[in-house]
Amino acid sequence: MESDRRAGAVIAAMGAYVPKQVVDNNALARTLDTSDEWIYARTGIRRRHVAGPEETTATVSQRAAEECLRAAGFPAADLRWVLVSTDTPEMWNPASACFVQAGIGATQAVALDVTGGCSGFVASLGMARALAERGDPVLLIGCEVLSKAMDWSDRSTAVLFGDGAGAVLVLPADAARGLAIEAVYARTDGRDADILGKPYGGTRNPITPELVAGGHHHRIVMNGQYVFKHAVLRMAEAAEEALRIAGVGLEAVDWVIPHQANQRIMDAVADRLHVPREKVFSNVEEYANTGSASIGIALVEAIQQGLIRPGHNLLTVAFGSGFSWAGAVLRTEVVVPVGADLV
Ligand code: UT7
Repeated sequence: MESDRRAGAVIAAMGAYVPKQVVDNNALARTLDTSDEWIYARTGIRRRHVAGPEETTATVSQRAAEECLRAAGFPAADLRWVLVSTDTPEMWNPASACFVQAGIGATQAVALDVTGGCSGFVASLGMARALAERGDPVLLIGCEVLSKAMDWSDRSTAVLFGDGAGAVLVLPADAARGLAIEAVYARTDGRDADILGKPYGGTRNPITPELVAGGHHHRIVMNGQYVFKHAVLRMAEAAEEALRIAGVGLEAVDWVIPHQANQRIMDAVADRLHVPREKVFSNVEEYANTGSASIGIALVEAIQQGLIRPGHNLLTVAFGSGFSWAGAVLRTEVVVPVGADLV
């Protein structure tokens, strides 16, 4: 009965996958006017994982989904929702989630994509929690295959991104123990929608032979310094608001798991919040900015490294195109099983 249900939802298991092809900064410096020194000093990135010819958003998502379900021992056929948060979909239509749903055999699940920028995964966690609270098992995957959707000749963006996926199984709180989703705070300010994004190929700027001939149909538009400034301010806001909703003080946060866009952004957010930088998990050096996938991959690695213990409060924060930003507070009831095929 609904009234008997313990309110809330938990992340019961996690999975992650990154492609095995690695492109380091020196490889980029062979074709672009850039250097390992510049990239590392400005971003903290040394290398990124890049999809192979056969790998797509659906296959990369599916790998993370399979790792997650295997770790959980949860049958795909029992899922009610498969959500894929991505800005680099399999195709225009149908949703990437449809291919994942078929691939994993989630025959009873509704499959939908969310296009929510780099904070889409955290915002979608709020949706997953709402769905799970009414009793529905949800598989949420954050995935990007940015390597097939960006302009590799543009040094201002090509050095920043990588591919991968992170997946979480979200269940009603009375069905499992895990990372209790205590609070999710998410906001959007569409007045800055044109500052960061990939404007070509949609209905405003359809692909034309001229656009393709110019080589710019994959161009990512970004005012880097403006994005940087707002990312720091908004991630700090998301942290404070999510903690306020959860009723958890900053001093009680054991680990901050931020979106992995740039080490300097993570450091600036930590400093603004007066959180020691040692409490902020980072793997941007290895994977670069994997958009919606970054927090899932980071959480999985933090668990694999034994950093997360029962009782720990985790704070995730992200910022991305839209502008959109989001934060979530997770309380570790038990350390959840993870499956991963990473480095
Ligand atoms: O998930 C959200 C997605 N986006 C972001 O998070 C990006 C946020 N912004 C940033 O991370 C930083 O703004 C960047 C890493 C993109 C750039 O760092 P910056 O310290 O803001 O550099 P800048 O844009 O001020 O550029 C400094 C110089 C410029 O040259 P001049 O004008 O000083 O001669 C750029 O042309 O660095 C040049 N530059 C490069 N040089 C070598 C830009 N990209 C490169 C490059 N290699 N790859």
